[in-house]
Amino acid sequence: MQALANLNGEQMPLEEARVPALDRGFLFGDAVYEVLRVYGGRPWLVDEHFHRLANSLQAIRLIGVDLKRLRRRMDETITAGPFREAIVYIQITRGAAPRSHKFPIRAVPLEFLYVDEFHDPYERARREGAKVVTQPDRRWDRCDIKSTNLLGNILAMQAASEVGCLEALLYLPDGRITEGTHTSVFGVRDGKLLTTPQSADILPGITRSLIFRLARRAAVEVEEGILRRDGLSEIAELFLTGTTSEILPIVSVDGTPVGTGLPGPITRRLQQVYADAVGEFIATGKAP
Ligand code: PDD
Repeated sequence: MQALANLNGEQMPLEEARVPALDRGFLFGDAVYEVLRVYGGRPWLVDEHFHRLANSLQAIRLIGVDLKRLRRRMDETITAGPFREAIVYIQITRGAAPRSHKFPIRAVPLEFLYVDEFHDPYERARREGAKVVTQPDRRWDRCDIKSTNLLGNILAMQAASEVGCLEALLYLPDGRITEGTHTSVFGVRDGKLLTTPQSADILPGITRSLIFRLARRAAVEVEEGILRRDGLSEIAELFLTGTTSEILPIVSVDGTPVGTGLPGPITRRLQQVYADAVGEFIATGKAP
């Protein structure tokens, strides 16, 4: 089954989508993006993703994008395609113009999205837990912007992958853990959830915010606080969250087991609450 794209309002098979070589997304990474999950044919947490997209556009001063129209195009592309379980990728660039670092005067933003079937790569890890490594966080100081400049993330993820790990936890020079290369991170300490405070050091994860709401349903307290690379021995449970990974237990960091070395009870409870919320969404369209 073919993935479907919409490029500047034109629907086409993804493999037929072409962008100009002088597009600033290609030349400079002058672009922002979103990844959404579709469950049972319905896009999940759309308002939240479009709100973050608006913030990213504003942060890079990319103006003139009609997000209502983009959302309509996304809905049409989901409906036109055959996939019930899918991901939506959206990217907006500053458009094509003669190469020059400063903003072009006349370029028209490029608005690209595609919908593809979701093949879940995390099923087993969600059940059995994932191994991760730590890697220095070598990104810039605006990690709150969902920019397509992802070299820092990619190099750290590749290093993790080369030692058989599913993700890298990134740490700053002072030892604070920020997040994963494509996930947010939570710990459990003294029965409470602990996650990196929101700042420009991390992406405001949509799933991260959802966990705050679901934790209430699961009667678990959440605290924003510092997770330290040298303090992981005090952490009873650790898990990752993200649009495609959902809630992924971490069972070892740099070869050292987390807690008992098995997915912990609070992580399990949250996974159940998450699955229930998705089930309700598929049945009724009601978002948590
Ligand atoms: N990654 N942190 C980073 C650096 C991310 O790239 C992502 C998402 C997250 C989790 O955010 P959310 O819960 O909104 O998915 C945290 C996407 C899925 C990606 O790049 O593919």
